[in-house]
Amino acid sequence: MSHPLTFLGIESSCDDTAAAVVRAAERAEILSSVVDGQAALHAPFGGVVPEIAARAHAERLDLCVERALQEAGLGLGDLDGIAVTAGPGLIGGVLSGVMLAKGLAAGTGLPLVGVNHLAGHALTPRLTDALAFPYLMLLVSGGHCQFLIARGAEAFSRLGGSIDDAPGEAFDKTAKLLGLPQPGGPSVEAEAATGDPRRFAFPRPMLDRPGCDMSFSGLKTALLRARDGIVAEKGGITRQDRADLCAGFQAAVVDVLAEKTRRALAIYAEEQAPVPALAVAGGVAANGPIRAALTRVAEEAGVRFLAPPLRLCTDNAAMIAWAGIERFRAGGRDGMDLQARPRWPLDQSAPALIGSGRKGAKA
Ligand code: KG4
Ligand code: ZN
Repeated sequence: MSHPLTFLGIESSCDDTAAAVVRAAERAEILSSVVDGQAALHAPFGGVVPEIAARAHAERLDLCVERALQEAGLGLGDLDGIAVTAGPGLIGGVLSGVMLAKGLAAGTGLPLVGVNHLAGHALTPRLTDALAFPYLMLLVSGGHCQFLIARGAEAFSRLGGSIDDAPGEAFDKTAKLLGLPQPGGPSVEAEAATGDPRRFAFPRPMLDRPGCDMSFSGLKTALLRARDGIVAEKGGITRQDRADLCAGFQAAVVDVLAEKTRRALAIYAEEQAPVPALAVAGGVAANGPIRAALTRVAEEAGVRFLAPPLRLCTDNAAMIAWAGIERFRAGGRDGMDLQARPRWPLDQSAPALIGSGRKGAKA
């Protein structure tokens, strides 16, 4: 096993300011992971405001780094490197992180490693479970939705993804349309538990098309029409109507994700991985029925299913420190010319995804 490495990770690509210290020896160990969320700052605006996010990152990043080092019981001199999210994301926030990392690297002489935020998510099952390559990864959050085959620290093939909204975004918009609190995922899931998923026939977008691409924005329009139909008929919606709408919406998302995962697994099967595995990451992976459906699909295909704990599925800096260690071990280093990138697809050969979501540019 390689020499133990201790890395500081810095994350500021969206609305979470985060710093963490990860040590990788026989197994990886998260020595600290500080996440300072900005949800309250953006809540009055109904979405992430890039300028507010960038300013908050600039104000909070050094404090997060200090806390992360303190909680790990280490000083800068105990580190072997500094990893930072260099994209994709909201450029002001990414720049704040990259500038801080450059300052720390210049001041300490430590190696600087720029990390792709999506690689951070995609490599998380290796941090938590030492999962071997190649595995299939489904990233489902408020800003991301894609299937990837992870082959190496910097080798990913994108099989497909959402061509418009990410599923978390669709959950959030559904909650907004039905007057439920944000974030929408947990509140829609809770309502759906008492609803009838068959009352409204919501579409299953793009299931009629081959491949792994998905679309979730049409579902929101269908939901809006169904809601307005009830209001026109009865003058308002009852608690039961709302539960049925949530259940119908969630069932459609479950069906689309399950079927597209089946297709992605069929493509992944060609890899003939010695221990085939499907892993998920992102806030939407917290959804019970989605998790259950993916577990079933993996079981049917005879592959192992992994869902890292939620605090490591959602945005955090431990995944950035880990991805930095993986890149560093593979020889990856950056200089003071490291660029902050608003867009940075993991798979440079795959066609660009269309659209850009509430949480910034998609890769
Ligand atoms: O990964 P994440 O914390 O942030 C990024 O988008 O990067 O994901 C947040 C998203 C939100 O859209 C939220 O509504 C959704 O994950 N989410 C859920 C659930 N919990 C969180 N969606 C469906 N069901 C849930 N239980
Ligand atoms: Zn993310």
